[in-house]
Amino acid sequence: MAINNVKGTHDIYGNESGAYTAIENLLKTVAEIFTYSEMRPPVLEHSEVFIRGVGEGSDVVRKEMYTFLDKADRSITLRPEFTAGIMRVIAQNKLFANVELPLKYYYSGPVFRYERPQLGRYRQFNQFGVEAVGNNSPYLDLEIISMAYTMLQSLGLENVKIKINSLGDEASRNSYKEALKDYFRPYLENMCDDCKSRFELNPLRILDCKVPEDHEIALKCPAIKEYLSEESKSRFDLVVKGLEEMDIPYEIDDGLVRGLDYYSETVFEFQYTSKMGKDYGAIGGGGHYDKLLKELGGADLPGIGFSFGIERLYSVLVDDGLINPNEEDNIDIYVMASSEAKLQALIIANRLRMYGYRIDYCFDDTKLANMLKRADKKNAYIGLIIGEDELRNGTVTIKNMATKEQMTVPNENVDDEIANMIEEREHHMHHHCDCGCEDEHSSCHDDGCECEDCKNKKGLN
Ligand code: HAM
Repeated sequence: MAINNVKGTHDIYGNESGAYTAIENLLKTVAEIFTYSEMRPPVLEHSEVFIRGVGEGSDVVRKEMYTFLDKADRSITLRPEFTAGIMRVIAQNKLFANVELPLKYYYSGPVFRYERPQLGRYRQFNQFGVEAVGNNSPYLDLEIISMAYTMLQSLGLENVKIKINSLGDEASRNSYKEALKDYFRPYLENMCDDCKSRFELNPLRILDCKVPEDHEIALKCPAIKEYLSEESKSRFDLVVKGLEEMDIPYEIDDGLVRGLDYYSETVFEFQYTSKMGKDYGAIGGGGHYDKLLKELGGADLPGIGFSFGIERLYSVLVDDGLINPNEEDNIDIYVMASSEAKLQALIIANRLRMYGYRIDYCFDDTKLANMLKRADKKNAYIGLIIGEDELRNGTVTIKNMATKEQMTVPNENVDDEIANMIEEREHHMHHHCDCGCEDEHSSCHDDGCECEDCKNKKGLN
């Protein structure tokens, strides 16, 4: 019987896999520019890390964790997010001691949540994120949000909506929670069971309830901004003004409370509706936290961070035409040999690979005509052929697959001939025309580029 993938997981291969790597590399490059360095925390943590870190009021801890007893009866959880695990690493290794703060880390990898699978929602998915820990400057909030914005811009995403809110300090939040309880108490009896327990554990969570009747009730509840302390209010004002000055578009959303319990002060989310109108919800989110590191045994230091969902980034990039999932591969060289020449050809292929050319090799014993068809299918630039004659004469036939021109050269000249052809192609691809401008154009190099001079010459202006 066939065995299928586990519900809520998805298999990533081919172009999609390449795109994930490209997205992650781009995000890493931006994080490195902001002088964040990589951390690779374990996937497995003691369940306590997330119960204490993410919080018992959150849906993640209440019903979405992959938790099991290991063979020594320890309760272990597959990470449902990175932030709490990173705080555990920082606390355990006392990374905050004797260094200038904030500590700045980025991370990427799979996370696990037992959610109901649907569009853009998986049980195993990939996150990329950053955390900055140990400094309470509101300018760190601004650095973090602007870094996330830079990342989305470098990916080419234009319709990013940034929602932002403040959850205030602990005192603000406590008085707000009381106000919410007072507001919801009269409705409580008719609200869903989840909301009944949220009411006790963390009434902020009620604002995220998806049950239509409860959502309706929540629409008219008091807003946190009326309960912010003076300090929290002026911190939030500074951040919002900063975004304004930095030309980062934002929307203040009173109802944004985020789904994890550790947040305080600034919280934000990145939302995206693709050009085709598909709403993938949040492509990323994050915020500031005060007590997380301390809760996990570290110093009493605040932090701030965010995570993107790689699957959601990929989907919106495809929808907006910024990634072509069907793009064909192309290789530099396809190596074809008759059965007696197979080993010799493999040795030459490996030698040429050391120059960095992308080389594929035909393992099958089939007619040359078939092999050439395969070379075309792979969009090979060069076909390298060693048949009986070549083997006997110590030569190799090199074929330009596009022009069909071919030449047979002695073994010792192969590397130079290939190098010449590759160089010629590069020149062709990045040709600067004679007008002297810096524009490049990719196809024909004789009728000028797109600069004003050339367009004039071609009579396009
Ligand atoms: P989060 O909002 O729970 O935050 O997740 C971040 C992102 O992960 C979401 O915006 C979404 O793009 C993606 N995501 C969440 N659940 C799923 C799912 N089931 N399937 C696919 N993608 C999903 C955090 O995880 C926090 N640790 C962010 C943070 C970092 N806060 C402070 N520092």
